[in-house]
Amino acid sequence: MSMPIRPPFVRLRTEIAGIPVAQLAEQFGTPLFVYDGSWMLRRLGDLHRFDCVRYAMKACSNLAVLDLLRRHGALVDCVSAGEVRRALYVGYPAQGDPPPIVYTADIFDRESLALVVQEGIHVNCGSPDMIRQYGAVAPGREITLRINPGFGHGHHLKTNTGGERSKHGIWYEQLAACLEEAAEFGLRVTGLHMHIGSGTDLEHLAQVCGAMEKAVLKAGPTIRSISGGGGLPIPYRPEEQYVDLDEYYRLWDRTRQRLQEALGHPIRLEIEPGRFIVAEAGYLLSEIRAVKQQGQFTFYLVDAGFNNLARPILYGAYHPISICPAEGDLDRPDIEAIVGGPLCESGDIFTQQEGGFVVPRRLPKAKVGDWLILERAGAYGFVMGSNYNSKPLAAEVLIQDGQARLVRRRQTFEDLIREEIFPK
Ligand code: LLP
Repeated sequence: MSMPIRPPFVRLRTEIAGIPVAQLAEQFGTPLFVYDGSWMLRRLGDLHRFDCVRYAMKACSNLAVLDLLRRHGALVDCVSAGEVRRALYVGYPAQGDPPPIVYTADIFDRESLALVVQEGIHVNCGSPDMIRQYGAVAPGREITLRINPGFGHGHHLKTNTGGERSKHGIWYEQLAACLEEAAEFGLRVTGLHMHIGSGTDLEHLAQVCGAMEKAVLKAGPTIRSISGGGGLPIPYRPEEQYVDLDEYYRLWDRTRQRLQEALGHPIRLEIEPGRFIVAEAGYLLSEIRAVKQQGQFTFYLVDAGFNNLARPILYGAYHPISICPAEGDLDRPDIEAIVGGPLCESGDIFTQQEGGFVVPRRLPKAKVGDWLILERAGAYGFVMGSNYNSKPLAAEVLIQDGQARLVRRRQTFEDLIREEIFPK
């Protein structure tokens, strides 16, 4: 069994990647996303056997993070014109073999279609209409197809991206028709892709290999790459596990080898993780601004809310929580506490389960002024933030080589109202 090395789960935390929490909070303010670059690179390194690790930047698209991963060999997957522009901005070339940037989506909005055509960005089509729209303006190009294999799985119903109730991918029974349609437009289908969901398990990921094999044999000899998508889970709780990466690679490699034999040419094996690379590297640092008692329950109210980290309210997602005592007094017995944010909305609670059920958590006793850290928040954290209640987006800091550097300044009031207009 080859399991990745796991960052420790802690109840009290005085530093992040060697930098005192107090220093981070005082220098950059709160709420603050802090990323430990070395954990991102470690996770990227764990996947080195795959021919190509294509980072799904939707998980965390800060330019400094993208640049770090680019310099260490990751390619990128994008789902919008904005994400493609981010990739170009940090220096990914528009074209290459393998394509440095891939646009994977189920639709083209008008902006993304214009951009991929103009820059020659590789497109991974998730609907027959994408093939038609692309073929009409860019005949002769190569494309890949994202196939919905008829099943899916994720850590939550909302992150399951396969099966007939999912909007994602080209339905597997329509593959032959799509290949014909692509050929009519002169598009060459050079690869197939399947992403069945986010935060799934080895059993379900393994089923994808079988579905991929069938699909590639149907698609035939033009196929030169296969992608198993993303979805690798990380342990958010101490009792949770990673996927056995050796086993995962073996399954895909065997599939690839059988296909190489059948088709008689090399096939590139791609993987497309987001969460696995950045989740554990990220911390949402907040300050406790009120401690109150509501009947039997103690509440810690912090200055971060679901405007900063939406995963608990959206999915009932669990994030480990640690406390950093402001005055350095580390003798803190555990108590039961509910953790909430500043928003005028009763769902603004970090310790909630599926369905919005609020539950207390065993946490160190804390006071106003202490820092509370939502851990393993690097994936789908900042990027899903909003300006709800006119809260500015948080600042982001990247720690690398023992240095904490600001990689996004906190929004100001002027930023908040920049696009608004008084009608004449
Ligand atoms: N590739 C495609 C085509 C995807 O749609 C996704 C995620 C990924 C790769 C990366 O999946 P990952 O390795 O990160 O599991 N907001 C949710 C997750 C939504 C995932 C969307 N697509 C959450 O916070 O759990």
